Amino acid sequence: VGCFTVDPGFSATASCASGITFIDGEQGILLYRGYPIEQLAARSNFLEVTYLLWYGKLPNESQLQQFTHEVVHHTMINESLRLFYQGFHHDAHPMAVLVGVVGSLSAFYHDYLDIHDQKSREMAALRLVAKMPTIAAAAYKYTMGQPQIYPKNSLSYAGNFLHMMFAMPTQPYEVDPVAERALDLLLVLHADHEQNASTSTVRLAGSSGANPFACVAAGIAALWGPAHGGANEAVIRMLQEIGDAKNIPKYIARAKDKKDPFRLMGFGHRVYKNFDPRATIIRETCYQVLEKLADSRDPLFELALRLEEIALKDEYFIERKLYPNVDFYSGIIYRALNIPMSMFTAMFAIARTAGWMAHWMEMMADPELRIGRPRQLYTGPVMRDYVPLEERK
Ligand code: CMC
Repeated sequence: VGCFTVDPGFSATASCASGITFIDGEQGILLYRGYPIEQLAARSNFLEVTYLLWYGKLPNESQLQQFTHEVVHHTMINESLRLFYQGFHHDAHPMAVLVGVVGSLSAFYHDYLDIHDQKSREMAALRLVAKMPTIAAAAYKYTMGQPQIYPKNSLSYAGNFLHMMFAMPTQPYEVDPVAERALDLLLVLHADHEQNASTSTVRLAGSSGANPFACVAAGIAALWGPAHGGANEAVIRMLQEIGDAKNIPKYIARAKDKKDPFRLMGFGHRVYKNFDPRATIIRETCYQVLEKLADSRDPLFELALRLEEIALKDEYFIERKLYPNVDFYSGIIYRALNIPMSMFTAMFAIARTAGWMAHWMEMMADPELRIGRPRQLYTGPVMRDYVPLEERK
């Protein structure tokens, strides 16, 4: 019954109307609320961009101050939440920990959260953005067997995260301004990307009226996959496996071989059929960050540059319009900041929380919101009678 068109992977189906982020994949253009990502990367910062994504306009000075103040004052997590970490295996992947701990926030903020009230929704969004770095850094500290570090309100959003990651109770920790700026830039670049898999997951879960903290946990789960946010970790693993520029042709050949499941990680995008503008900015930033923070050029950066050069000259990649995406170079910067590979996708999750909540709030404010309920093209058996066990062959 019913006649539906199947659109595998939703290549040509808009799931909603949205005024937040615009992408022109052919031209390689990305705009947040109309502002080009290049300008925001050069001149804005993560909390200002979060405000922009949520409220549709750049804040004035007092609005930004107030917003920053509110975020800073919600960075603490409930003390009993800290006990959750001990339930995880010591080598649990931080993304697994994040799915669990962020989901559990719904147990702390549920009864008095009114999803039909705009102020209440904004407070949930604010809490999430404020607590994500605390939750992620605590996951890292737990895997390291080190004591969790409390947030420090005097620091910037990025600076505070670095502090919670690397400070020890026994010794002072100075946030390096170059690292702080580089991290903030990566947060800006990852803050939103319209209806990607994780954002669509948050929207679909939220459309049923579910708790936003639980919806974001679902988004984190979707982000973790290697075809999505998990690619930043997979890129570094791939570069380490390639090891040397002389091995690149072998891996290019594997990526082209349809019988081999291997793909060039950090390459290709559903929407961009041109350079991903975020990858271009990150590549440039790699030069500056490595020069200032690392003793020498990271050999993996050299390898990545070479791999890009070779792939972009190859017919296979040219024909299919496969270019480096946001995940191709981001891991190089995280490495220079001493952020371990297992935390890369968690970094993505911290940034994307701004976008997830922008979309959730936009959706919840829509008076015509309907539960997301895709249909299917049924391919199973036609109706038939139940066969008693003794009569089955
Ligand atoms: N290496 C080799 N071949 C590729 C790659 C790649 N990285 N990406 C796409 N292709 C080929 C694919 O095999 C197909 O070839 P053919 O037409 O001969 O069957 C063609 O290009 C189109 O690919 P697709 O799988 O239909 O494209 P998609 O839009 O469904 O997938 C993608 C997009 C990003 C999942 C895919 O390009 C991919 O797997 N890339 C590697 C993983 C990655 O870097 N993911 C991060 C995405 S950007 C950030 C984010 O979302 O978090």
